[in-house]
Amino acid sequence: MLTKLFLGISVALPIISANFTAPVSACSCSTGLILVDVDVQAEVDPSVFVPFNSTALRREKRTFEVFGQLCQPVENGYGQGSQAVQLLAHGFTYSSQYWNVQWYGFQNYSYVEFACSRGVSSFAYDNICAGRSVPPYNSKDCQLPAAAAVASSLARKLQDGTIGKTLTGSNIHFSKVFGIGHSLGSGVLYYSAIQDGTSSPFIGLILSGFGHSPVDPASIEITISATVPGKISDPGRWGNLDTGFVTTNSSVRAIFYGPPGTFNPDIFQLDFLTRDVGSIWLQIQADAGNINQPIPFNHPVTILLGQLEPACNSCNSSGVINAEKSFFPNANLNAYGYR
Ligand SMILES: *[C@@H]1O[C@H](CO)[C@@H](O)[C@H](O)[C@H]1NC(C)=O
Ligand SMILES: *[C@@H]1O[C@H](CO)[C@@H](O)[C@H](O)[C@H]1NC(C)=O
Ligand SMILES: *[C@@H]1O[C@H](CO)[C@@H](O)[C@H](O)[C@H]1NC(C)=O
Ligand SMILES: *[C@@H]1O[C@H](CO)[C@@H](O)[C@H](O)[C@H]1NC(C)=O
Ligand SMILES: *[C@@H]1O[C@H](CO)[C@@H](O)[C@H](O)[C@H]1NC(C)=O
Repeated sequence: MLTKLFLGISVALPIISANFTAPVSACSCSTGLILVDVDVQAEVDPSVFVPFNSTALRREKRTFEVFGQLCQPVENGYGQGSQAVQLLAHGFTYSSQYWNVQWYGFQNYSYVEFACSRGVSSFAYDNICAGRSVPPYNSKDCQLPAAAAVASSLARKLQDGTIGKTLTGSNIHFSKVFGIGHSLGSGVLYYSAIQDGTSSPFIGLILSGFGHSPVDPASIEITISATVPGKISDPGRWGNLDTGFVTTNSSVRAIFYGPPGTFNPDIFQLDFLTRDVGSIWLQIQADAGNINQPIPFNHPVTILLGQLEPACNSCNSSGVINAEKSFFPNANLNAYGYR
């Protein structure tokens, strides 16, 4: 399903906003840039659309500046709250705003606010080459191995207190970090579990808008034709970025939504206002079969697929479990397929 281009938006929002009655701000949030070192093997040419192979890799050793936001329930106060936090990884052509909409009238759609109202802390971040983590990289420096290494490193920095200290000035250590992904963000978390093997820092994963499918050579064409370089789409905003930084226009984004009447039309406008760029190489690498191997991850995993998910072949819960269980041989796998 990931191969069918960053799916799962329309349904993730209704699921998480149901019955949400929280006040406008249940959260106390701090934002900033976090320095993240990676040392991974990247593809020399990420456009080849073949799984990674050792003959065509280069060492990528660099420091990314990652924009992140740590939100804790107000009533807990910093440093006293739950020792658990959820790391939130957004999907392709989105940013961390996906998880914490702050536009007036849309707070009910903020998953971060919802979590705070339930006493749960969140750390949402902008993927490399997206949102406020963008400059000054070359889009080819933003590949799946680096993105996955960044996700794992951020989880470790939530544990060891680096993120708490950097963003709030206080000593905040989270002993338990759950990873929650949406679409390509789920793919990044999944690849981190491939890359980290049995030493994954996550103690549970929730993968929304995510599923495995056979590699389809046509999907690279679909991805390329459905996206447009940010510098062409909005030169004022993205004119200084290379053409591997891509976004989507509103007609393409309509595929994320069901038929009229199944969602609040204002959300569609909000979706466009909060769209972002992403590195096309990351999406291509996820589609090229690099996530199609089992992970040794041995903690709970939940897969969420919505009723209106496009291109979903087995979207009921037992169908999802049957389709996915071989990829999670050691995990306690749950699924919610709303169809
Ligand atoms: C949640 O919303 C549904 C539909 O509006 C309603 O039937 C249900 O009672 C609500 N549950 C809670 C806990 O408020
Ligand atoms: C390894 O990568 C090179 C260049 O990307 C490609 O030409 C070759 O077919 C790949 N080999 C395998 C076994 O996939
Ligand atoms: C948010 O949800 C609550 C409860 O359903 C509702 O009373 C309120 O009007 C909603 N606010 C907005 C801005 O939609
Ligand atoms: C939106 O993008 C698609 C795919 O790139 C393109 O076919 C279509 O013409 C674009 N629509 C508009 C209104 O720009
Ligand atoms: C769930 O999906 C599977 C796979 O598509 C299908 O075989 C099965 O009949 C479905 N079960 C229900 C209860 O709809």
